[in-house]
Amino acid sequence: MKERAVFATKFGAIATTVGSAVGLGNIWRFPYEAGIHGGGAFLICYLLFVFLIGVPLLCAEFSMGRGTRSNIFGAYRKLCPGGRWQWSGYIGILASLLILSFYSVVAGWTVEYFVSSAMGSLDFSNKEVGHAQFVALTTGWRPLLWTVIFLLSNFVIVIGGVTKGIERAANILMPMLFLLLLIFCVNSLMMSGASEGLRFLFSPDFSKITPSVLLGAMGQAFFSLSLGLGCMMTYGSYFSNSTRLARTAVTTATLDLMVAILAGVIIFPAVFSFGLSPEAGPTLVFEVLPFIFSKLPAGSLWSALFFLLLFLASLTSTVSMSEISISFFCEEKGMSRKRATILNTAIAMCGGVLCALSFGVLSDFTIFGMTIFSLFDYASSNVCLPIGGLICSVFVGWVVKQRYLGEELSNKGSFRFRMLWWISFCLRWICPVAIVVIFLNSIGLI
Ligand code: TRP
Repeated sequence: MKERAVFATKFGAIATTVGSAVGLGNIWRFPYEAGIHGGGAFLICYLLFVFLIGVPLLCAEFSMGRGTRSNIFGAYRKLCPGGRWQWSGYIGILASLLILSFYSVVAGWTVEYFVSSAMGSLDFSNKEVGHAQFVALTTGWRPLLWTVIFLLSNFVIVIGGVTKGIERAANILMPMLFLLLLIFCVNSLMMSGASEGLRFLFSPDFSKITPSVLLGAMGQAFFSLSLGLGCMMTYGSYFSNSTRLARTAVTTATLDLMVAILAGVIIFPAVFSFGLSPEAGPTLVFEVLPFIFSKLPAGSLWSALFFLLLFLASLTSTVSMSEISISFFCEEKGMSRKRATILNTAIAMCGGVLCALSFGVLSDFTIFGMTIFSLFDYASSNVCLPIGGLICSVFVGWVVKQRYLGEELSNKGSFRFRMLWWISFCLRWICPVAIVVIFLNSIGLI
């Protein structure tokens, strides 16, 4: 059998994991979800979920991946031969393809915005022009083209294999994106609506915590940390034996959270300064950001740079998403990497076209009151990912031998890992109970 790839350096392993986690989920999805769900109340719930559910589950996924050196199916199978646990891999594959579909549409918008900014044709001098421009850019047929172009870029990176393409790109891009966000953050803090924006984001109104806010925050935590569908498991399987898993989990969660909060600090002051509504939904960030740039000297340059980096950050995320189904097609179905990648891209293109059209000709076509785009987003983030996470936490917490987690988290006893009891407690009790309760609560059963 072919030797499995291993990330070349420790920094590379972290940068790639953070690259998977940081993407549109932080910069596009977090502000819009926080905007819909009341700002501060959402942020508090989100914070709790990141550390009480996110970090333990990251540890669990990393351990399963590295211990078995397999994709999600193989991992469950090796740890519990003959069991049915591996079937949860199907949820993962379904969800990863759904996410890849709508994600590529939004990533396509970033390409469109990049091109328009670079050509200096983005005009956001006032609210109406800005909105009209967004509508013009995202309806019609052009977004289809950008979605396809984005998926093709993803294809090119993915087909190159694991360590080469992904790792090299992530090492350079992630720090650059971070720096740019810091600069924009300072800029937003100097705006007239800064205090109102910060109040919206940071002062929680606890009465606003409803079942749907809890479900939204939990879904966002899963989405943003790439949890619940074996993505981090697959990445864990490329970690070297000396990578410290819990430390990597905490670093990933912290950096991911910081980027989301930075995005919030950039967006909300601007929302209030320009008199927009925080509840605009998926279009929020794309309507607000260009305003910010229009106020900066050499605005279109900043804008172009930002959208370029956002595009690249999305790529490092979609690469990780693709890896789930590709490693399945290759390792379980015996396909060549090339065929698997083509299949993955083809499915995502079909889904992506539907999602892209749901802002245009299909905007009136709704299922359960949601457009195809929103349905894909909701079904994957708020349903599939938590279910995948539930299965993983129960599996590692209760089914696998107790020693397993301890051995992986301490690199087979090469150092003492003191927090094992806590991670274990979270996986056995907090994660399953929280996921089940929030889930049933939000569909009105309890
Ligand atoms: N976490 C990424 C983001 O925030 C999206 C992502 C990448 C993802 N891989 C995933 C989401 C796997 C769920 C599952 O943009």
